[in-house]
Amino acid sequence: MRENAGSVTSRTATVELPLLVDTPDAWAEAALREPCALLNDHAHLEKKAAQNALELLHRWPEPTPPDNWVVAMTAVARDEVEHLALVVRLLSRRGGRLTKSHRNDYAAALRGLIRRGGDEETIDRLMISALIEARSCERFEILSRVATDEALAKVYKALWASEKGHYLSFIDLARQVAALEGDDEAAAVEDRWQSMLVEERTIIMNQKPGPRMHSWVV
Ligand SMILES: [Fe+2]
Ligand SMILES: [Fe+2]
Repeated sequence: MRENAGSVTSRTATVELPLLVDTPDAWAEAALREPCALLNDHAHLEKKAAQNALELLHRWPEPTPPDNWVVAMTAVARDEVEHLALVVRLLSRRGGRLTKSHRNDYAAALRGLIRRGGDEETIDRLMISALIEARSCERFEILSRVATDEALAKVYKALWASEKGHYLSFIDLARQVAALEGDDEAAAVEDRWQSMLVEERTIIMNQKPGPRMHSWVV
């Protein structure tokens, strides 16, 4: 079941994201009215994404990680630090400053879905990471079309491609971890992914409006 809050069904189909609700363009129009606040929130998210990849780096399933585990996590961490530097530069050029503290209720709610212990926790952590990347990817695509500031639009377009790659890396690793446990687990992981997507739809639509990457609209 797909719920369309916006008028851009074909767009999401084009970028092949699995999300169950499309963000309306009105979200970007509102968020871009406060570009420094949006960039500040965005910078914090890049920092948290880098930290998450470094934390996952040593959380591989025992006894050995999937072949590409360490390379994938280090590549994501490197990308996110580069994104952080880029966004902080954009913020600074517009007269903004990075705040010391930050909260992301969307990510916190998603993390509440994580089952604790063993490979289930690893799979859930990877899936939550994939969801955040997919939603961020969707948002960058919208921002790249809606932003009238050319420098911002260009950066958003570049980030769209990078975050899509991260989404694919995380969901691929979640499937690899499940496959290590046998056919039953490999099938169960697809059900788990579908239930996560349903949860994500509710969580994103429950976010307050505001100049944030993971807010919703009035
Ligand atoms: Fe990023
Ligand atoms: Fe990312």
